[in-house]
Amino acid sequence: MCGIIGYLGPKSSTAVLVEGLRKLEYRGYDSAGIAVVSGGKINLCRVKGKIKDLEALLKKNPIDGDYGLGHTRWATHGRPNEINAHPHQDCQGKIIVVHNGIIENYIILKQKLLEKGHFFRTETDTEVIAHLIEENFSGCLEEAVKRVVQLLEGSFAFACLSTLDPEKIIGVRSGPPLIVGVNDKEFFLASDVVPILDHTRRVIFLDDGEIAVLASEGLKFFDFSGQTVNKTIMELNWSPLMVEKRGFKHFMLKEIYEQPQVIRETISGALSLDTGEVILPNLAASAERLKACRQAVIIACGTSYHAGLIGQILFESIAAFPAKVEYASEFRYRDCLISPEDLVIAISQSGETADTLAAVRGLKDKGGPIIAICNVLGSTLVREAEITLLTQAGPEVGVAATKTFSAQIAVLTLLALWLGQAKRSLPKEKALEIMLELQRIPHRMEEILNCQDSIETLAHRFASYAHFLYLGRWISFPVALEGALKLKEISYIHAEGYAGGEMKHGPIALIDEKMPTMVVIPKDRIFEKMLSNLHEIKARDGLIIALTDSPADLGQQVDYLLPIPSTHPLLTPFLTVLPLQLFAYFIANRLGADVDQPRNLAKSVTVE
Ligand code: G6P
Repeated sequence: MCGIIGYLGPKSSTAVLVEGLRKLEYRGYDSAGIAVVSGGKINLCRVKGKIKDLEALLKKNPIDGDYGLGHTRWATHGRPNEINAHPHQDCQGKIIVVHNGIIENYIILKQKLLEKGHFFRTETDTEVIAHLIEENFSGCLEEAVKRVVQLLEGSFAFACLSTLDPEKIIGVRSGPPLIVGVNDKEFFLASDVVPILDHTRRVIFLDDGEIAVLASEGLKFFDFSGQTVNKTIMELNWSPLMVEKRGFKHFMLKEIYEQPQVIRETISGALSLDTGEVILPNLAASAERLKACRQAVIIACGTSYHAGLIGQILFESIAAFPAKVEYASEFRYRDCLISPEDLVIAISQSGETADTLAAVRGLKDKGGPIIAICNVLGSTLVREAEITLLTQAGPEVGVAATKTFSAQIAVLTLLALWLGQAKRSLPKEKALEIMLELQRIPHRMEEILNCQDSIETLAHRFASYAHFLYLGRWISFPVALEGALKLKEISYIHAEGYAGGEMKHGPIALIDEKMPTMVVIPKDRIFEKMLSNLHEIKARDGLIIALTDSPADLGQQVDYLLPIPSTHPLLTPFLTVLPLQLFAYFIANRLGADVDQPRNLAKSVTVE
């Protein structure tokens, strides 16, 4: 939520900052701004709206500078308007701050600053940081920042600069991510690696409680107590091309299409079909501890939570390993009974979701080993978990998660196979059967993508409906939840995901000719039961779209069909989720919705 970018180097700062903000826009998009320093003078440009509005204003009133800061906002304190848009300033307009997160004690701090004669221009919590730096400044910006961080409470990352101590950008992290990019003679600071990738793959991830000083003479790092910290430069394997649309209208559509390749990369090297073994080298060092675990506790939010629900069924059915799945935002406030025999699995695409991180931190030293299933190398979750299984999805830019979901279920399938193998609860023939079919999944996904036109036609036919019900059972229930989530988040159509067997306990009352039902009904152990649900809907004049690999068995009971290829019953989510992603995409696109940046949402939720 909120994106920060900073640049110090020989290029046009405005160009680097605006392009960086374009890449960070998925983090927040209700207002934006930049501040650039030229000839000892700060030039500011801020707007309510999106980066394109900022660009339009900059075209009318161009500014540039030798270094500067930029920000794209997802409002927490203060309405999204031009005044509250970052960057913010001190009284004299010589100190500039951009911020992500929340300063929880800002009211008390603001009161004290007002008593000292500071005047405030905005309703934001951020502005107190600029005034506090002003109050504590005596010639050196980082010294002032070191004093200010002692006064702040909450979860925050901020960057600042000042013409009183020029050619310097300071970055501070206490919660939300902040990354330094290093290139010959130029430095970058950003909320994630995506905007840095255009310039360099060499990055340094700030840890919580650290301060980075980017200056023309070099880089320095301190902790909040003022001690120098030695940081390591990491080389990323993502390329700038990965964050381009490459001919697709939206990132979401491109990312849906990338899924076959993402699955290939995620499972690559893990399946030894000769020996029937799954090889996950990252688990090797902890194998004994993992084998000793008695159940998995899976923690996640949003789409990652839905992947977790699928993981639970995979663990049960593949490895005979009990699992429970928890919303991180709920789990962290419960008095959960957790033991060292519980294997904690945190799933997060970004590795920066505040609730997931808080839940994991609360479990340290209580539960057993912690495995992170994550897409971002160097993210906070990856650095804090004992073991990481990376999803090889590449950067995901569309706010609605698609390819990372498929990659998460691929990793969960591998982990379930590994656990079954390690605990000797999985017969070799069954393992081989699943492994062989897992290898074929990318090809089966491509078959579905080749039918894009028919899914688009169907989506257009249904674009005018205001409500949808999504039904599924067993391993298709989380898919129904995910399908409904995709539709509501990008098209703003009300959609409810429900377990088929629960329909008679409530949602059946909603069914009429105005509320279509998307039924996820692959030919699996629960197929016959789902057929009864179809009859119940038809008896109430409900319209049915059936997502199935067995159209012939459904006969006249459904109104529309979304056919998919057959696969192993435990692997159907890879194939059933794909048409649901496309269905949601084509409806949203038909309605003219902002598919990649849906209203009120943010890709990475770094506040509670
Ligand atoms: C936000 C995003 C969702 C995502 C969720 C969890 O709400 O909009 O797409 O599923 O956060 O994010 P994570 O990075 O932890 O998977």
